[in-house]
Amino acid sequence: MHNTAIKHLSLNYIYLPFEVKKENLSIAIRGLKGLEIKGMNITIPYKEDVIQFLDYLEEEAELIGAVNTIKLERGSLKGYNTDGNGFIESLRIDAHEDVRGKNIIIFGAGGAARAIAIKLIVAGAERIIIANRTIERGVKLVEYINSKLSHQNSKFLKAISLKDRLLIQYIREADILINTTPVGMKNNLEPLFPYDYLSDRHMVCDIVYRPLKTRLLQEASIRGARILNGLGMLIYQGNLSFKIWTGYEMPIEIVRKILIEELEKRNSEVRSQKSE
Ligand SMILES: NC(=O)c1ccc[n+]([C@@H]2O[C@H](COP(=O)([O-])OP(=O)(O)OC[C@H]3O[C@@H](n4cnc5c(N)ncnc54)[C@H](OP(=O)(O)O)[C@@H]3O)[C@@H](O)[C@H]2O)c1
Repeated sequence: MHNTAIKHLSLNYIYLPFEVKKENLSIAIRGLKGLEIKGMNITIPYKEDVIQFLDYLEEEAELIGAVNTIKLERGSLKGYNTDGNGFIESLRIDAHEDVRGKNIIIFGAGGAARAIAIKLIVAGAERIIIANRTIERGVKLVEYINSKLSHQNSKFLKAISLKDRLLIQYIREADILINTTPVGMKNNLEPLFPYDYLSDRHMVCDIVYRPLKTRLLQEASIRGARILNGLGMLIYQGNLSFKIWTGYEMPIEIVRKILIEELEKRNSEVRSQKSE
């Protein structure tokens, strides 16, 4: 994604993956300064651990308590988080959806749910229900958000278990449903909730992008709901990071095309491995 944008814009950068052992995290991050590397993305499982090695955080990363983007700025390391904004941009640009005043259910209470929930509240969502398999984790997320935001915009924030009887009522009343769990990826195919409660009043989003049309999105689409997959979030969070480092926008449609081709190629490789 980044190298496609770099090539298209004829910039003098290269984007490389590094696998870093936990015991080497501090030295790897400090290495950015030594090597004068422009910046870095951080992914699972280091988005929180990395904060202790940075000089300062941008407001969004501070609120979310996790960093997915680092930039070396005049010799100091600054942490950013573009995940939540990436999702909101995808919702706004790809699905033409404004979250102000909306009733929203987020499935999952992990890192992605935290970034997305905080952004939705800041953007003016009316009600947010966090539905998680482990209720304690959902409650912890709600407590965390309450401690960070006075959320005068969002009137209602609550955690429930996926088994809670109220879930069906909340689904019926929801405008937007967002899956932030890995359910729907590869072999993780069990239903998150009874899909029969979905209807044409719903906007259903899945931040999973492998496959591009998860079972949740298929079932939602059959019942007339509008759907959004995780590809847009991936592209827009990447674009925001790219802009932080280079000052340039990615050529979004070129990047989208390359990504779809690559994902389809990988899916067909997996299918042919299975049939061997
Ligand atoms: N499109 C994008 O750009 C983008 C960006 C970030 C993440 N993602 C995707 O989002 C997903 C979550 O990432 P994350 O960082 O938030 O992970 P995480 O911190 O590990 O959280 C995972 C969440 O999913 C729940 N979960 C896991 N397996 C489940 C199952 N079988 N049934 C029901 N709930 C289940 C967990 O519930 P418990 O608390 O009960 O364990 C937890 O709430 C991943 O698939 C990742 O690839 C996509």
